[in-house]
Amino acid sequence: MSAQPDLDALWMPFTANRQFKQAPRLLARAKGMEYFTADGRRVLDGAAGLWCVNAGHGREEIAAAVARQLETLDYAPPFQMGHGPGFELATRLAAICPPGLDRIFFTNSGSESVDTALKIALAYHRLRGEGTRTRLIGRERGYHGVGFGGITVGGIVANRRTWSANLIPGADHLPHTHDLARNAWSRGQPAHGAELADDLERLIALHDASTIAAVIVEPVAGSTGVLLPPKGYLERLRAICDAHGILLIFDEVITGFGRTGAPFASQEFGVTPDLITMAKGLTNGCVPMGAVAVKQAIHDAFMQGPPGVIELFHGYTYSAHPVACAAGLATLDIYRREGLLTRAKELSKRWEDAVHGLRGRPHVIDTRNYGLIAGIEFEPIPGKPGARAFDIFLKCFERGLLVRTTGDILALSPPLIIEPRHIDEMFGILADVL
Ligand SMILES: Cc1ncc(COP(=O)(O)O)c(C=O)c1O
Repeated sequence: MSAQPDLDALWMPFTANRQFKQAPRLLARAKGMEYFTADGRRVLDGAAGLWCVNAGHGREEIAAAVARQLETLDYAPPFQMGHGPGFELATRLAAICPPGLDRIFFTNSGSESVDTALKIALAYHRLRGEGTRTRLIGRERGYHGVGFGGITVGGIVANRRTWSANLIPGADHLPHTHDLARNAWSRGQPAHGAELADDLERLIALHDASTIAAVIVEPVAGSTGVLLPPKGYLERLRAICDAHGILLIFDEVITGFGRTGAPFASQEFGVTPDLITMAKGLTNGCVPMGAVAVKQAIHDAFMQGPPGVIELFHGYTYSAHPVACAAGLATLDIYRREGLLTRAKELSKRWEDAVHGLRGRPHVIDTRNYGLIAGIEFEPIPGKPGARAFDIFLKCFERGLLVRTTGDILALSPPLIIEPRHIDEMFGILADVL
């Protein structure tokens, strides 16, 4: 057993720091579907880390590619300079994106991808002479990271209220689509709620389309508890945006890279946005990296002025970092070789049956699923929202299963290399705990 480190200096993100440091949960290593704790216990990974380790842990091909890249070209400035792996990864990524979204801007996280996409949308309208389009539309219960752009369009009050006076002016929100009264126990996309997209028409009537730049939604909202798009909902959003010249952004930070059974949820649901934000699975979670895929026509609108002028005043010191690019290329190789970008489809029936097998367990008020995603919702303990799910999370961890909680919902999103025996084990532990 390794000695416990001093815990004081690290201010942990989105964590109850004092509670955690009283009873820390320390992970020491990981391989395949499993974590191992600092005291040597095996923990099955039901969350792909944090929705990112889609090819499973400890992939030697990625480690080797990263080591090679560090020895060859450890860093290169991304402004006015380039390198092979950056261009190669952009080309490879464009090839798996929905048709037309084949121009790639690299970032270092989902939050940066979201801010980048919002800035591109605003700049695009401005350079076309539609600079009055400044309004950004998000959705209640949306999560788009923690930058000021992301919390502005996000719909989680705890992430917004402290900074409410500092949010980007003029944003508005669509209603969320979570409706247990009509859609509880849905298998796949819920039947009811396509009409909720029509709320965009209401916002257009209120603000006028000439003031609206973009709408951003997660095809499947993950961080607020696996909220699936009702049948027909994304199609309607697309149609309304088209009718009014509004750009549609899909935030695919968690749905990208095979989670729903296709490379991107856009392909799975058959709705093509104008921009896609991504991160997480792009490098299998092992080197920070994000990206925005942009429709070529939007990109080309920027390429009009004198060729010596910088077209977009935006970028990061680590945009297309060579080491991240090497990790991304090795990750895409694994996804292709092992068929992981569509594997969720093959397993989804088995997964769905296991998820809905929890129906009838104490306090379970809904189970829902898509691809290799599941949400299990509990009746809250009166006066203690979130306490029941957190307690279940702790008990699962004690018994060797990592899950993710948000409010009184458990979210499951295992690595896409999962085998049926892992599904059985995962839901066996959950059933015992419940
Ligand atoms: C849909 C979505 N967008 C953005 C983000 C933010 O990503 P990051 O934490 O890498 O900044 C997340 C993170 O979970 C996410 O789920």
